[in-house]
Amino acid sequence: MKTSLVVLGIGMILAVVESPCADSVSTSAAAARPPIPYVASRNDAVQDMLWMANVGKDAIIYDLGSGDGRIVIAAIRDFGARQAFGIEIDPNRIRESRDNAQKAGVADRVEFIQGDLFTTDFRQASVVALFLGHEPNIRIRPKMFKILRPGTRIISHQFAMGEWPADKEQTVRSIHLGMWGIAVGPFTHNPRVPDYRGNERYFGTSGANDKILMWVVPAPVAGVWRGKIDTAQGPKDFRLVLHQRLSESTVGGTFQISDQNDLTGWIVADVWGDHLRYWCNPDKMPYGQDQMWFDGNVKEDAMKGTLTAKEGGQIQERGCEAQRDKADFTGTWEWPSLTSDSHSVRLRIEQRDGHPVATYIDGDKELPVPDFYDFGGGFYFTMLIGRKEHSLVLSADTGWLIGDGVLEDGAIKGRIEFHPSIVPDGKKASVYQDWTPRLTEQ
Ligand SMILES: C[S@@+](CC[C@H](N)C(=O)[O-])C[C@H]1O[C@@H](n2cnc3c(N)ncnc32)[C@H](O)[C@@H]1O
Repeated sequence: MKTSLVVLGIGMILAVVESPCADSVSTSAAAARPPIPYVASRNDAVQDMLWMANVGKDAIIYDLGSGDGRIVIAAIRDFGARQAFGIEIDPNRIRESRDNAQKAGVADRVEFIQGDLFTTDFRQASVVALFLGHEPNIRIRPKMFKILRPGTRIISHQFAMGEWPADKEQTVRSIHLGMWGIAVGPFTHNPRVPDYRGNERYFGTSGANDKILMWVVPAPVAGVWRGKIDTAQGPKDFRLVLHQRLSESTVGGTFQISDQNDLTGWIVADVWGDHLRYWCNPDKMPYGQDQMWFDGNVKEDAMKGTLTAKEGGQIQERGCEAQRDKADFTGTWEWPSLTSDSHSVRLRIEQRDGHPVATYIDGDKELPVPDFYDFGGGFYFTMLIGRKEHSLVLSADTGWLIGDGVLEDGAIKGRIEFHPSIVPDGKKASVYQDWTPRLTEQ
């Protein structure tokens, strides 16, 4: 845990606990990243984590950075998990964990893997436990989206996931009597960017502390979906466009039902694992008439469920199926820079090992975009731009660029945002724009 002493007035010394790993993902080079130190979760916090993740006999749990093995051991001993694994880089901790598992009588049901959590495979997990820090949480999240099944629970002691809001969050107690931590940064207060630390602030000993947060990995649902709905007038074609962004707790989009009077409108959807629920809000109907809502599941490119419609005061439930258009975002996409009027910037998307990989191109500078998410028929990315090397340069052009796009009939359509790090003249505010980048190279 990174702890430093701050003297506040005579005799008042407070230990400032920033995080086990306080540096931002954006401010440090891989080589310069501070190591994630060993700090054990309190045993009662371990119980809270396993309880919130609903660990039971079917759970396969991985603790990434497993320390002395306490989460792994408790998952088997106290919650009857099917299997539990720890991934830990420090060989001494691995030895200690194996001894602890022996003493707890669970040695034959746990496994401790000595390795790097960023490169070791944990795709079979149904629950992933973390007590790492803000930066490692952000760094590991694209890998989690790439390898974990929808519905996998991610449980984190204390640290959030930037702009990705937790599905559940609980403050379990105040910790570390006498300690007072702060998390300060140019983006600390902006909940739309990965550097957001607002949910990790410590407000002193009387303020509650020691958080447990949980996310359920959502199915990738972005894209253009087409299907048929049964209605009293016979089957009708419908089309949905869904945009998925980590910063939003709901998925947004539009729908269109085709017949002689096209019905169009917007959608708000909740995704919980592969369970999708959305509400259709027609553009032209008076509120309360002809409402429709869908409840079902998404399995890869197929959506299946029930569409409930209120037609003339009657509730009708009908089967509804849709298929997602195949989407290939490969190519170089260009758009006018949000930070300067005079030039364009590009995003190059290539396929590597079956996954899209993105590079941001500004003039002769090419920067990898590790925080990139393939959401099926669309994608989402974040990146900090306008910095020198790996230091955070506080200029008006330094900020988070965040975009989402859905491939609609060969063109990317979505929204792009720029969140500047500072407001130099009091006028510089976040920019939100519709995004229709132009394909320059396939
Ligand atoms: C804050 S401790 C958490 C220990 C345990 N999960 C708990 O909650 O009690 C973080 C652990 O991650 C380990 N660690 C740090 N970097 C790692 C890496 N790259 N791969 C695997 N383990 C790592 C550290 O050695 C340390 O034991």
